[in-house]
Amino acid sequence: MKKVILVLGGAGYIGSHTSYLLSKLGYEVIIIDKLLHSQTFNHPWAKLIKADFTNEEVLNFVFDKFEIEAVMHFAAFIEVGESVKRPADFYENNVVKTLKFLNFMMKKKVKKIIFSSSCAVYGDPIKIPMDENHPKDPVSPYGKNKLVVEYALQDYADAYGLQYVSLRYFNASGALPDQNLGEQHNPETHIIPLMLRAIKNKKTFKIFGTDYDSVDGTCVRDYIHVLDIANAHILALQYLDKNGKSDCFNLGTGNGFTVQQMINAAQKVTGQKLITQNHPRRAGDSTALVADYSKAKKILGWEPKNSDLDFILKTAWAWERKIQNFKQEEL
Ligand SMILES: NC(=O)c1ccc[n+]([C@@H]2O[C@H](COP(=O)([O-])OP(=O)(O)OC[C@H]3O[C@@H](n4cnc5c(N)ncnc54)[C@H](O)[C@@H]3O)[C@@H](O)[C@H]2O)c1
Repeated sequence: MKKVILVLGGAGYIGSHTSYLLSKLGYEVIIIDKLLHSQTFNHPWAKLIKADFTNEEVLNFVFDKFEIEAVMHFAAFIEVGESVKRPADFYENNVVKTLKFLNFMMKKKVKKIIFSSSCAVYGDPIKIPMDENHPKDPVSPYGKNKLVVEYALQDYADAYGLQYVSLRYFNASGALPDQNLGEQHNPETHIIPLMLRAIKNKKTFKIFGTDYDSVDGTCVRDYIHVLDIANAHILALQYLDKNGKSDCFNLGTGNGFTVQQMINAAQKVTGQKLITQNHPRRAGDSTALVADYSKAKKILGWEPKNSDLDFILKTAWAWERKIQNFKQEEL
């Protein structure tokens, strides 16, 4: 019989790629997602229930009908800037609802969870690359939300026997356009889709901060292909199946690229010019965020295999052109 994985937020960007991989590997995938971005999700390889992930009626139905092997929890509000303006909403959706859900899991005696955490738990870097022991001093409510949940997972593991893995993603990027999968955030705040859309629509791309301590003055980030993140979830699941100790792991490549280097690479991949405009720094943006992923390599046997910058940008560009075609067909 197929093992059943419940994926919260599985119709989102990273959750959908992971759900696809799970189903390809023979798992049965049940998704609960309320389609916050009004995104298109129409895939035969998962059952989608459109609902809030704390809807008790839905949860009772799912947990009673299926023998859930493990939960993957991607569902969250993700816009860092918005979290500064609306912390109450972010604490409610990302923390309070997660605690409610964990309590439900405990009641139903489902004990395994893989949680989408973030490099935002670290705050400003003291040392680059950052390993998991780097001090945690998140600078946004979003980063604090992730850290609070990580603490709760630890406490639930100690007290109630929860088994968890927290995966701290750096910048998720790229797509699987052949599977009709890619980023569909609304609003979009991530650099690669914003850059590619600016190229496609001949719009101006804003660079925030050109006076950072980096080779060209723009900030440095670590871009990890969404397929590598999906793979890490499979390895984390196998790790928990073998009774691996609950833990957290960084998912990044260890290579940082500046915004300017990303612009140059995007122009090369698309063969088109990107119009840019310099703006002052934004509050809360760190100079550099780069992962030390040696712990994930050593314990989970994970390594980034699809995160060459060229491949990331090519797949993201193919996806951007594809969704443009969808939209034209819909008109
Ligand atoms: N994208 C990144 O670079 C990145 C980096 C670090 C961490 N993360 C984390 O990874 C996870 C997935 O990120 P993503 O980029 O795929 O985001 P996403 O917005 O594409 O996916 C999240 C999904 O969760 C759903 N959702 C949110 N709240 C819900 C609720 N209360 N009930 C039901 N569904 C709900 C949304 O509809 C959405 O489809 C998030 O937890 C995010 O914080 C993302």
